[in-house]
Amino acid sequence: MSTERFVGKVALITGAGSGIGRAVAGRLVDEGATVFAVDISADGLAALADEVSGPGAVLTHRADLSEPSACAGAVAECVDRAGRLDVLGNIAGIAASSHLADVTVEQYRRIMAINTDACFFMCQAAVPHLLETGGNIVNLASNAGLMGQAYTVAYCMSKGAVIQLTRSLAMEFVRTDLRVNAIAPAAVNTPLLHNFEIADGVDVELMKPYMGFRGMAEADELARLFAFVASDEVPNMHGAVISVDNGITAG
Ligand SMILES: NC(=O)c1ccc[n+]([C@@H]2O[C@H](COP(=O)([O-])OP(=O)(O)OC[C@H]3O[C@@H](n4cnc5c(N)ncnc54)[C@H](O)[C@@H]3O)[C@@H](O)[C@H]2O)c1
Repeated sequence: MSTERFVGKVALITGAGSGIGRAVAGRLVDEGATVFAVDISADGLAALADEVSGPGAVLTHRADLSEPSACAGAVAECVDRAGRLDVLGNIAGIAASSHLADVTVEQYRRIMAINTDACFFMCQAAVPHLLETGGNIVNLASNAGLMGQAYTVAYCMSKGAVIQLTRSLAMEFVRTDLRVNAIAPAAVNTPLLHNFEIADGVDVELMKPYMGFRGMAEADELARLFAFVASDEVPNMHGAVISVDNGITAG
């Protein structure tokens, strides 16, 4: 069911070319937002633009957000083309499985640059605009940021940092109208999960605690939650880390 919660609002969504980001972008456009969709994948952005129709609109911007200057550039371009910024959704991310000894410096830095650094630099660039509009930030964390997982050490570190980024910003801006929250899903049915290859020779027993008992979520469920968190319906939700993990982190 569509509502009109985002009519007149502008949402910058990273990772909008696939999976959760694409579902979020579609949902917000359905609810009247102008979505400034950012992704490294030109094909993903073109597919999004083809797929969505009104009542809102999509503007696309290709960028590799692992570069801090590209984060500042994306925010500046958004405000320039769309006129304002009400919601920042930091959704772009990558994941990989590896034994500790096999993680190369390049792989480690790429995960941190996209999953953690880009969130930081996007927030840094967006906050002045969000303070003007009384807007909010929603970061995509993961159950992997809340618990230790074997064979994904760098990914877990990167998502733990996203959670601390969320909480720290929430405290720094607690006397303003800005809201900052995080959503922490476990498995979601997206290309990231389909392309995820578990490293050879792992001890499967060590992975069971984060495999869960109930299967995976669909991206649309995350999009519905994102829209709720980013809407004006929950003005007191600030600094929250909302799990959508079928109980994995409850155990
Ligand atoms: N799918 C899951 O099971 C799951 C679970 C927990 C958390 N998450 C998190 O949710 C977020 C979205 O994941 P998804 O499953 O939709 O993945 P996805 O692979 O479907 O989409 C990720 C998007 O990020 C974009 N991206 C990657 N690197 C980029 C870069 N350098 N600059 C700009 N864009 C870049 C990709 O092109 C892609 O469009 C990620 O942060 C991921 O860690 C996913």
